[in-house]
Amino acid sequence: MITVVDHSLIKHKLAYVRDKKTTNKDFRELISEIALLLTYEATRKLSTVKKTVETPIMEAECEVVKGRKPVIVPILRAGLGMVDGILKVMPMAKTGHIGLYRDPVTYQPVEYFCKMPDSLEERQIFLVDPMLATGVSASAAIDILKKHNAQKIKFLCILSCPEGAAYLEEKHPDVDIFTAAMDIKLNNKKYILPGLGDAGDRIFGTI
Ligand code: URA
Repeated sequence: MITVVDHSLIKHKLAYVRDKKTTNKDFRELISEIALLLTYEATRKLSTVKKTVETPIMEAECEVVKGRKPVIVPILRAGLGMVDGILKVMPMAKTGHIGLYRDPVTYQPVEYFCKMPDSLEERQIFLVDPMLATGVSASAAIDILKKHNAQKIKFLCILSCPEGAAYLEEKHPDVDIFTAAMDIKLNNKKYILPGLGDAGDRIFGTI
């Protein structure tokens, strides 16, 4: 299932991330802030367990998130730009990393780095990459997570497009997608239209 998170603050921030005049510093901050707001929606249904705490006045019946610590997994390198914002609202989360490059001959994604916390099968995983373009990298990253026994995976991105969303939903129908916007389509260079350009370059100032 894909959820386009409908929120005025997200819309406002998206206008600035799309703007080519936005500086790398502001772009980085905005990506992080949108990731935080997406996390609010993506974590809405996390299971909780009752916990009694002592307020300064009396006992209170509270709830805390149930189970093992969740895991944020950025797809290198652009996914790194979303991690800080997510950690602001989920500071207990662990972070894994997946590095993929595209083989110049076959165009298939190839894993060059993978480091995960233990017991992925017991944890909620949040796979993150700002752009869901063709969906090939996200799908390959999910394949890797599933090889490490991950069972509960959500995918968070800033922008998506119909091609990427359809591809990912076909390959991994069990993975819910949370996105700030569904754009129009891909161009022939596989960039999202209207999009925001190259997310990694704008986060890391490599343009
Ligand atoms: N990756 C990007 O950074 N931008 C796009 O538009 C598509 C993929």
